[in-house]
Amino acid sequence: MHVPAGPYPPGQPEPEEVEPPVHPQDPAPVVARLRAAGCVFAEDEAAALLAAATGPGSLAALVDRRVRGEPLEQVLGWAGFCGLRVVVEPGVFVPRQRSTLLVERAVALLRGSGRTPVVVDLCCGSGAVGLAVADALGPVELHAADVDAVAVRCARRNLARVGGSVHRGDLYAALPAAVRGRVDLLVANAPYVPSAAVALLPPEARDHEPRAALDGGPDGTDLQRRVAAGARSWLAPGGTLLVETSARQAPLTATAVEAGGLRATVVRDDERDATVVVGTSPRTPVSESSRCAVTHAVTIRDGSVT
Ligand SMILES: C[S@@+](CC[C@H](N)C(=O)[O-])C[C@H]1O[C@@H](n2cnc3c(N)ncnc32)[C@H](O)[C@@H]1O
Repeated sequence: MHVPAGPYPPGQPEPEEVEPPVHPQDPAPVVARLRAAGCVFAEDEAAALLAAATGPGSLAALVDRRVRGEPLEQVLGWAGFCGLRVVVEPGVFVPRQRSTLLVERAVALLRGSGRTPVVVDLCCGSGAVGLAVADALGPVELHAADVDAVAVRCARRNLARVGGSVHRGDLYAALPAAVRGRVDLLVANAPYVPSAAVALLPPEARDHEPRAALDGGPDGTDLQRRVAAGARSWLAPGGTLLVETSARQAPLTATAVEAGGLRATVVRDDERDATVVVGTSPRTPVSESSRCAVTHAVTIRDGSVT
């Protein structure tokens, strides 16, 4: 096997066997295999796989995994999200572009607050949402939580760079008690696919993301309702809950948020097929305020809220 010429650091043994560099390599055979496997963006994916491969053996292994249906991001080991590279380990939910709406709303709400905000990313998966919020805002006290051990390990890798703490457990039970009542922003992309629709998802999601990351119960809102019911006691007075949902489920999500004692607003961005329910906690402590019952619809056009 070919061993590339040094230089090697002084005093260190030269590697015995190193795969020859993969570049330059004709992408055509990779493109053809990906296209035959049904990959729509075969050229782009081939370029990404070629760039990630460390040699011909590694390239073959990466292409095999992709051809077998594993999401590209899990094969590469990372996903692009809000301009960041987010580590995505096999078996962890791949962050979706529609979730950038959560990040935008979070940043718009917290920017210029004049102090270090407390942010919680519930059902954090890889931690992509919390990472992007912290990256955009500068210092935040960030807590992320997930029930899944692989997701927690992955989120710890991602959130180390922004000093975030990652906890494992069922929703709020994972969080340190000291955070209760202090949260300025609680963001949750909890699973919201109705159970019967999980089988209809693309195989990449169905076969390679954990069912617990997708299945939101009979109407898709089981987890959202639990998140909404608990939010107010964890939020600071005037704090905000952001819940990702679908356009169809938004009325159910908003109703759950209002049942939790928050004022609900629906934000929709058709371009990203993204829907977020914003729940605002009253500025008065929990026991002194009454519940609201009005839902206001907000739409994003050309990047601005109308
Ligand atoms: C749709 S994924 C979202 C992941 C991440 N927030 C994102 O947007 O990329 C939902 C996540 O919720 C987690 N989850 C499901 N049930 C949970 C529970 N009861 N408590 C905490 N996390 C849960 C799953 O493990 C999964 O990582």
